[in-house]
Amino acid sequence: MRRWGALFVVACLLVAGCREQYRQDLDYSYGVEQTWPIDELPGEAFVQFESVFWEPDDTISLRKLIKDKGIANGRDVLEIGTGTGLIAILCLANSAKSVVATDINNAAVANAAYNAAMLCPDKSLDVRQVDANSPGAFTVINENEKFDLVISNPPWEDGVVTKPADHAFYDPSFRLMDTLLDGLPGHLKPGGRCLLVFGNVQAIKRLESESEKRGFAVKVLDDRDLDSLSDNFLPGMLLEVCPVMVGQKVQNGEFKPADEVNPEAGPVEAGKSIRGESTLLEASHAEGGAST
Ligand SMILES: C[S@@+](CC[C@H](N)C(=O)[O-])C[C@H]1O[C@@H](n2cnc3c(N)ncnc32)[C@H](O)[C@@H]1O
Repeated sequence: MRRWGALFVVACLLVAGCREQYRQDLDYSYGVEQTWPIDELPGEAFVQFESVFWEPDDTISLRKLIKDKGIANGRDVLEIGTGTGLIAILCLANSAKSVVATDINNAAVANAAYNAAMLCPDKSLDVRQVDANSPGAFTVINENEKFDLVISNPPWEDGVVTKPADHAFYDPSFRLMDTLLDGLPGHLKPGGRCLLVFGNVQAIKRLESESEKRGFAVKVLDDRDLDSLSDNFLPGMLLEVCPVMVGQKVQNGEFKPADEVNPEAGPVEAGKSIRGESTLLEASHAEGGAST
């Protein structure tokens, strides 16, 4: 009799435990592909829903900056194309002030919300669904919303999307890349940063040339020589896009208020691509921005 009593108590505890995990705001309708542990959150595992992207080698260097350098700490963060929520949740777990995460794949939106609820239950991830008919980078961001950190591991190739999973790989006509660059000055706070990950040579060259067209500087935060890499490569390469804000000029690789530029100190540029170590990163974020 006592044994049945003990079993009844255990059953009640199990039911209560499961109830605690169940949340009305989550969508449980998607199939689970796999569960993955991740070094940066020891003892935890990310769930990957079917059709949602998972390749942590893409973003090793970005995750290192979030975990080891605290680039999200106390910052308002936007992640464009969140997938399972891996990067956005890492920002939350590393003391971001707020995190907005977007995705165009319905399953990814549900997946990121699920992982955030399970892995950071005491924090809130604002996950927003992008409409496939309006796939611009900032279409679900209010006109006056600004961020300290805009991050993305976007699709790397131009191509046709025929099923939800394709969104992870193809950016038709590079609309996402172009709208991201166009919208950046309006959605970055002063001193804010934009960090993008690509593992595709053509996409990186395109990002550099499109940035230059807009007068933005691009800093390659990677020691590898692009020309020695295969078309697609891993780990992904981290690039920082620095829009030259109104009233700024770039001189000798540093952002300066336009009225502090000395014409005799070197050429003045609207923007340029800079490889390897330089003072640009520190200089551009010295005032109020994230520091590495
Ligand atoms: C390469 S995956 C990266 C996922 C995740 N950030 C990661 O690193 O694991 C690119 C993600 O961007 C999403 N995506 C593609 N186009 C998008 C768009 N226009 N707006 C928002 N998300 C988009 C895809 O659905 C996919 O989840």
